[in-house]
Amino acid sequence: MAIVENHVQWQSVCEPPEPVEGNLFVSAYPPFSCWQADCSSEFERVLQSSPDKRGDAPLGLYVHIPFCLQRCQFCYYRSIANPASDTIDSYLDALIHEIRLYGESPRLKGRKLAFVYFGGGTPALLSPGQMQRLFRELQSVFPWCDIQEVTFECSPKTVTRDRLETLHAAGVTRISMGAQQLNDDVLRQSGRIHLVDDIRRAYDEIRQHHFDVVNIDLMVGLVGETEQSFFESLHQVISMNPDSITFYQLEIPANTPLFHALHEGQISSLAGWDMKRQRLTDAFAQLESEGYTLRSAYAAVRDPARHRFHYQEMQYRGADLLGTGLASFGYLGGMHYQNQASMREYSESLAAGRLPYKRGYVLDDEERMVREFVLQLKLGRVETQYFSSKFGVNVAEHFREQLRRFANRGWLSPDAGAVTLTRQGLLRVDRLLPAFYRSEHRDLSYW
Ligand SMILES: C[S@@+](CC[C@H](N)C(=O)[O-])C[C@H]1O[C@@H](n2cnc3c(N)ncnc32)[C@H](O)[C@@H]1O
Ligand code: SF4
Repeated sequence: MAIVENHVQWQSVCEPPEPVEGNLFVSAYPPFSCWQADCSSEFERVLQSSPDKRGDAPLGLYVHIPFCLQRCQFCYYRSIANPASDTIDSYLDALIHEIRLYGESPRLKGRKLAFVYFGGGTPALLSPGQMQRLFRELQSVFPWCDIQEVTFECSPKTVTRDRLETLHAAGVTRISMGAQQLNDDVLRQSGRIHLVDDIRRAYDEIRQHHFDVVNIDLMVGLVGETEQSFFESLHQVISMNPDSITFYQLEIPANTPLFHALHEGQISSLAGWDMKRQRLTDAFAQLESEGYTLRSAYAAVRDPARHRFHYQEMQYRGADLLGTGLASFGYLGGMHYQNQASMREYSESLAAGRLPYKRGYVLDDEERMVREFVLQLKLGRVETQYFSSKFGVNVAEHFREQLRRFANRGWLSPDAGAVTLTRQGLLRVDRLLPAFYRSEHRDLSYW
């Protein structure tokens, strides 16, 4: 396999080369690999305790729908391709049971949701009738009055008028569609089931339903991608004028078909990390010249005041997140937990009346502070005052050595009252974050 790099000067003798494979995106701190299987007494204690009286922990819900029309070559998400309708129905039975069990716990009973995120897989694979059932049951446990955001993920081929009508009528406010790239060759090579015409049709249909925010996911570094295909694709997306564009730099974890194709020598060349970052740097610059604003290391939005992303903003500030569904993870009362990743174990737990979590981790005060610091760094700027008020910690002092090191590399700029990443720092933020971990968590494997 050839890794095409346009420049590699940033790597010094002090830093190991960036690995081609594995996970890069940091979704949790401490890393999943140190979460413990033997966590039920702690998790029960959390569920039996009252929510924070300080009112500083809003509650969000993540619902995982692990089904897709077809498996994409690069995808690492937990998802089953082309499921039968009764497979989906049985899954919804289990999922609704899980949500009801949580709704009975003292920690969650009667609490209002601040946000909901339906992710996948491809939640829009559900039929309108399945969507209505899920919404009805869910809202009977956790009402959506006062809710600030409901996101629903879709892929172009799952977008139909009757599904969009159902979503809009139920109160979905934010639609997120995975396009990945607007080039038929690249889409075919990635195993996407849609082509560019499907993306355009779906986008036009979505726009007719007036959701508050429409986001499009794009990827950089796909198999078959060239400089030209990437930027032509970007220009087409800009001409569609979505409210938000989220970029994913291709990762190649071992659970992807792409990983195996690489090892079997079926892929001859792929963009390396420097090339992906360079394309993203140029893409963000073009988006800014078109009036977009960077909201984080991953996303540009038309209007930052209107096109918020509460799911991310609240999570990064310590919100409770009830994660439900196969393999999903949550964070309640300062404790991480993750569900069973096997459908059989997930369904059997619920059939026996047990919550389907398989591992968890209770964070101490310092770990909670580090967690919020690394998550907020993904937004490009961390206010130091927030950490002194909430945790009594001066982060500029606490992380002095790492901040100095990254400032010397040009990845951070010194700023009174804040830690601010430069553009180069922002685009490699997930590489930088482990340096802020407590020493015992730095060299752990991701999973
Ligand atoms: C759950 S999918 C979005 C909805 C829908 N399933 C779809 O793909 O259109 C979430 C996003 O993860 C990103 N993604 C999947 N596999 C990835 C990988 N190996 N590296 C980077 N991003 C990835 C894709 O951009 C995808 O849009
Ligand atoms: S990228 Fe989206 S559509 Fe493709 S397999 Fe993953 S979750 Fe499914």
